[in-house]
Amino acid sequence: MNTRTLSCSRNLRRRSIAAAAHLIRRGELVAFPTETVYGLGANAFDPAAVRKIYRVKGRPSDNPLIVHIWSRSQVAFLADPIPLMFWVLADHFLPGPLTMVMRASPSLPRGVSSGLSTIALRMPSHPVARSFLKSVNLPVVAPSANISGRPSPTTAGHVLDDLRGKIRAVLDGGSSTIGVESTVLDLTRSTPTILRPGSISQEMIEDVLQMRIVRARSSVKRPSSPGMKYRHYAPSAEVVVLEGDKRNVIRAMQKAVRRRGEVRIGIMAEEAFRESFSGAEFFSIGSDGVTGAARVLYDGFRELDRRKVAMVYCQSFPERGLGSAFMNRLRKAAARRIRV
Ligand code: TXA
Ligand code: MG
Repeated sequence: MNTRTLSCSRNLRRRSIAAAAHLIRRGELVAFPTETVYGLGANAFDPAAVRKIYRVKGRPSDNPLIVHIWSRSQVAFLADPIPLMFWVLADHFLPGPLTMVMRASPSLPRGVSSGLSTIALRMPSHPVARSFLKSVNLPVVAPSANISGRPSPTTAGHVLDDLRGKIRAVLDGGSSTIGVESTVLDLTRSTPTILRPGSISQEMIEDVLQMRIVRARSSVKRPSSPGMKYRHYAPSAEVVVLEGDKRNVIRAMQKAVRRRGEVRIGIMAEEAFRESFSGAEFFSIGSDGVTGAARVLYDGFRELDRRKVAMVYCQSFPERGLGSAFMNRLRKAAARRIRV
């Protein structure tokens, strides 16, 4: 299968989006940009197309998909009941990187929510995603457009690296600006629960709801654990997370580079530290803290794999706001965590 790259530069955008929407309505898969990461879209009401997503990604069949919409008027067909909290949060954060889990409407075709009684809804803010979803005008399921377990794609190039020849087309809308997947918030429990941290942070949600919410316990083991069974978002190289005071972290990274022997080491650190790592493969995570770091985290993993490093050492950030999401992804990708 030939995978078309549909450019979204100004003069081609309308035509590309129309072509992509046409493919979705015909039961094909099309990747599209969102503000978080690129998604792999299919018509949510077409069971064969949804099955194709699982096949192409190699995704475990028990991991449900997020349903993407462009208009609030679509919510009533998909969720029932719609809790008041949904509207309150929608007023503040939608369109944007917040996915909310609700009870699925009983009239939904089975399969849309992969047999679950709940449904996860997301209304992305990326202008290309919005026009595309509007043009399809059906709910679109879309996981991140990567092979399962690999880092999520934040450019059309990343999508092609994983899925070239396996999907009909990718809408090229440039680089995703946030770089980590949306916050997933479960509204079906007695207390709203964050299932996956994202750039809409726990603090932001609590501010709007004027109540405490909780974060689901993750499957990641304690820092002392030598190896984590569950790896995700990961490059082929072994990722080591160094946690602690920034100066100590940089010093520990330098020590690792000095002791590397024959091993090729990748370093992901802020631009200011570039000169400190002459013996290693350096990937800059920018100069504007965790915002810039999150934007290029997955690109860094992919780039360092291309440079054939055996190990990646990545700087950590405090677990506040977007820092919680960044550290969650980093730990899931990591084989080891070391406190310094
Ligand atoms: O930012 C994003 O959310 C991206 C872009 C493409 O929109 N999508 C994304 O999809 O990250 P995916 O499939 O890689 O992750 C979906 C997450 C999974 O952790 C899944 O378990 C959870 O959402 N999820 C989906 N439906 C759910 C449901 N009904 N109940 C609980 N969790 C659900
Ligand atoms: Mg994913």
